[in-house]
Amino acid sequence: MSAKTVEKKYKNTLNKGDTGLELSGLQWLLDHHKAKEKYRRKMIEDLNLQAGDVVLDLGSGPGLWSDLFAEKVAPNGRVVGLDLSAELIDYAKSKLSKSPYQEMIEYQQGDFFHLPYEDETFDVVFCGNSLSYVNSDSRQYLLTEQKRVVKKGGRLVAKEFDDATTLVYPVPPELWLKVLACSAQVQKEKPSEECFDNFVGRQVRGILIDVGLKNLSTIPYTIPILPPLSPEAKRYVTEAISWQINTA
Ligand SMILES: C[S@@+](CC[C@H](N)C(=O)[O-])C[C@H]1O[C@@H](n2cnc3c(N)ncnc32)[C@H](O)[C@@H]1O
Repeated sequence: MSAKTVEKKYKNTLNKGDTGLELSGLQWLLDHHKAKEKYRRKMIEDLNLQAGDVVLDLGSGPGLWSDLFAEKVAPNGRVVGLDLSAELIDYAKSKLSKSPYQEMIEYQQGDFFHLPYEDETFDVVFCGNSLSYVNSDSRQYLLTEQKRVVKKGGRLVAKEFDDATTLVYPVPPELWLKVLACSAQVQKEKPSEECFDNFVGRQVRGILIDVGLKNLSTIPYTIPILPPLSPEAKRYVTEAISWQINTA
């Protein structure tokens, strides 16, 4: 199936894809990426990947980060993307044929709690926008699995967001802060198995310390999305705000 056909097939699943997970629909992820691509490129620049590195992209979704990693580790590096969603892996594979890096990238459907890789396989293990789905009881296990598959001296990278840092203009602050307060309350009252933690960003460093990782660095990014908005950015902002209000 071509990337265009897959995109069309899943057009109506803006937020939840085949896994039913929040913020994991194909169209949503494509819009999100387009709206922020410039900043994602900067984040990857800051990772200082080397040609030849072998990168694991966990929760790779439609493979949008994987493509950018491949650019950096070419010509002899490798990128493996793993995701739970058949639909997103289907899409990621379908666009490979157009990629100049197709020989370097491999996508696999799977659960990141059970990594099908030997110990010390990867130079870099990246997990982007995916820790929100992992409840606090399981985080330690997930990070321990990541530690197992990264080479000695390699790096684990967690890229996360925290909703309390989202500022929306022209929504009046008193209204927006109420939405956030409700959302935080809902989060607090949720049973842990219903976890989707949209305030995970602030916890990432602590999670990494808890599993005994050393030499941590934390880089905060500000991502302004300003008019004139592209159609993708407009859809992304509209969806993000209505999702935020619906979770509150
Ligand atoms: C918000 S999306 C982020 C996708 C991609 N990293 C990005 O930033 O475009 C979260 C991804 O995590 C994946 N995911 C959630 N739980 C997972 C699990 N247990 N194993 C593998 N992937 C999982 C979802 O299917 C989804 O594609």
